Amino acid sequence: MSRIRKAVFPVAGLGTRFLPATKAMPKEMLTVVDRPVIQHVVDEAREAGIEHFIFVTGRNKGVIEDHFDKQVELEATLERRGKDRELAELEGSLPGPGQTSFTRQQAPLGLGHAVWCARELVGNEPFALLLPDMVMQDAPGCLKQMLDTYADLAAPANLLAVEEVAPELAHQYGIVGVGETVGRAFRVEGMIEKPAPGTAPSNLFISGRYILQPEIFALLGAHQTGAGGEIQLTDAMIRLAKTQAFYGYQFRGKSFDCGSKIGFLHANVAFALAHEDLATEFRQVLRDLLAEDLG
Ligand code: G1P
Repeated sequence: MSRIRKAVFPVAGLGTRFLPATKAMPKEMLTVVDRPVIQHVVDEAREAGIEHFIFVTGRNKGVIEDHFDKQVELEATLERRGKDRELAELEGSLPGPGQTSFTRQQAPLGLGHAVWCARELVGNEPFALLLPDMVMQDAPGCLKQMLDTYADLAAPANLLAVEEVAPELAHQYGIVGVGETVGRAFRVEGMIEKPAPGTAPSNLFISGRYILQPEIFALLGAHQTGAGGEIQLTDAMIRLAKTQAFYGYQFRGKSFDCGSKIGFLHANVAFALAHEDLATEFRQVLRDLLAEDLG
């Protein structure tokens, strides 16, 4: 199985659900405790051994490119002031020179279109796709677990991370049908994007982490629209599944849908409770607040 070297991050979404916070700032730069959402997702990819980070951006997203650049003046200042920990933190979270690429989606035509915009940068090799709305809290990270699972599958395979969803929320996601078990994965028997209530083939949703073969790009290039009038990635995957195997993998860990306010708040609380410098004090803050709230 060929190694997965490149990861794609579609970061062109408008973030309308977070207005006015996202009027001048990309939603991917909202922070979960002490780092932007996009940093959490890039960290997950780095941990998995990804070597090239491809961002599909849009207007007003320039600050994401700045975030993943070296800040020479800031680093010099930190060094002068003896702020070694902050300096190490900055240096440790940065992909190296030449390891990032940025391209623009130009028009908000859907997730499938955003992925297609990365075709030249990915080239003819399998790649990882991470949707930055989904922030994972697990060790090892979701993508690392997926790559370990992918290594055992017969080529050419596509692999989707899946997770359980409550039936009343299934219509918000892509849902997979479950076939036979193959090692740690299972064969995907059909997929549907945003099924009408009561029609989901299972309770497993596609949770924003994919390993895909490059043949997906030709199918995305047909620019067929689906649910919500958008070019849907799931529809292209359904077409690719006619000629290539698709597997699902139920990863170990928790995900937070930071594309919604409640998921974003949930992520902040969960990450603060797991943060070594903050956990004790924050737990007490939460206890006090809840005690007040419950009267
Ligand atoms: C996208 C995918 C969907 C997936 C979801 C995970 O939907 O199309 O299949 O389940 O991400 O967050 P979106 O959130 O862009 O509506």
